[in-house]
Amino acid sequence: MTSIPTSIIIFGASGDLTRRKLIPALFNSYTKNRLPDQFNIIGFARRPWDDAEFREILLQGMHDYAPDALTNGDWDDFVDRIYYVRGDLSTAVDYQTLHTHLHEIEGQQANRLYYLAVSPQFFVPIVRQIGQENMANEANGWRRVVVEKPFGTDLASAQQLSDDLHAVFAEHQIYRIDHYLGKETAQNILFLRFANIIFEPIWNRNYIDNVQITVTESVDVGHRAGYYDQAGILRDMFQNHLLQLLSLVAMEAPASFSADAVRNEKVKLFHAIRPLDLNDTVRGQYRGYLQSDGVAPDSQTATYAALKLHIDNWRWQGVPFYLRSGKALQAKASEIVIEFQRPPHLMFDKIMKDDFSPNILSLCIQPDEGIHWKFEAKVPDSVQETRSVDLEFHYQSGFRDRVMPDAYERLLLDAMNGDPTLFTRSDGIEAAWRVIDPILQGWETENKPPIAVYEPHSWGPVEADALLASNGRYWRLGCLHE
Ligand code: BG6
Repeated sequence: MTSIPTSIIIFGASGDLTRRKLIPALFNSYTKNRLPDQFNIIGFARRPWDDAEFREILLQGMHDYAPDALTNGDWDDFVDRIYYVRGDLSTAVDYQTLHTHLHEIEGQQANRLYYLAVSPQFFVPIVRQIGQENMANEANGWRRVVVEKPFGTDLASAQQLSDDLHAVFAEHQIYRIDHYLGKETAQNILFLRFANIIFEPIWNRNYIDNVQITVTESVDVGHRAGYYDQAGILRDMFQNHLLQLLSLVAMEAPASFSADAVRNEKVKLFHAIRPLDLNDTVRGQYRGYLQSDGVAPDSQTATYAALKLHIDNWRWQGVPFYLRSGKALQAKASEIVIEFQRPPHLMFDKIMKDDFSPNILSLCIQPDEGIHWKFEAKVPDSVQETRSVDLEFHYQSGFRDRVMPDAYERLLLDAMNGDPTLFTRSDGIEAAWRVIDPILQGWETENKPPIAVYEPHSWGPVEADALLASNGRYWRLGCLHE
């Protein structure tokens, strides 16, 4: 803990993210005594509010989104450190006002975390104004900026964004949030793999048949249709969340749990992904999407995608990785299924090879966080009959004394503590775009594969099944219990 105060300055503080995620996360950390001894939270936005109104709105947000948290701590004491500065995100003089207020609140020295809770077109204007006001200078305390996704809309725009951020902030000051990395179960992937001895020896092409990453949502695009129609599923979910999950499950063992060791391995993994064949991609759109407000009537935007990837390195040669994600599907589920190979020889002559299920390890990211291990067991009172049974670990029952924190809690604390391990480095962002960009371009210019319409509440287009059909593979859900 430092002896100088820490300010958390939220740009775009009147938006949803502040009351839904940021303030509950900060309040939870405060109740756990994890925030710096002296801290201030300063909201900056255009709405004509004062401190009292802002505080009232945040309290309402707590009632709406995190009512239980309110019973754990002293909200009145917490909220006393919250301020509001009215200002326009693109008006220079308003940043001077903000700067003056910051000095009044902080005194001579303070650390500052600038949080850009705004839509992406404001990232660069805000950062430039911060630069012009000399507010990125670290002479009187550290200065860090947290940027929400999307980081560009393709490789070129991501590189431009990186350059624009680097014109004001050095890389060590930039924290790019991917909230999936803050989820406990995503963090646990590295612990499962590298804090245990039994998995790593079989975590390769000699034992694994294929890996499936499923991130489905039951909600449709809702009120975000305007943004979504420009973005689509590849930009919204694959370039970031799905590729991050892939990197955690497939990367080599880092030598240490330090930010650069972990992030180096991720980048190496992204570079090893073989350029995708468009025939190994499926794009879908749910029926009814075109009728949403803000969607072009002839929109070709995908609300679902499935990809078959190959990783060209020694560990993974020949092992397909299947990734799928979509909106308006049957259930919300984020999980990784590792399907192992079948035994090379079956000594049980009464069992047909096809009746024999492979071992399945499922990493359940959400909603029911845990790990499931499926294996064959002899059916009692039979001669040679087997059935698949499950060993299940559920976080909820395994750690009864702990509440699963929201991803933002961990990430905000890490940013304040200067630990960027769970944040994406600029080369990681670019390497991920190098995977996604050619698919986007192929879909747009070659118009291939044709967009498949799927029914809401289904598991997506049937075309996605064909990606797996070879070797009798099919999409598995190891956590949801099909
Ligand atoms: C966001 C996407 O990054 O992740 C949303 O922009 C999506 O479209 C959300 O709904 C999913 O996050 P989670 O944590 O609910 O799985």
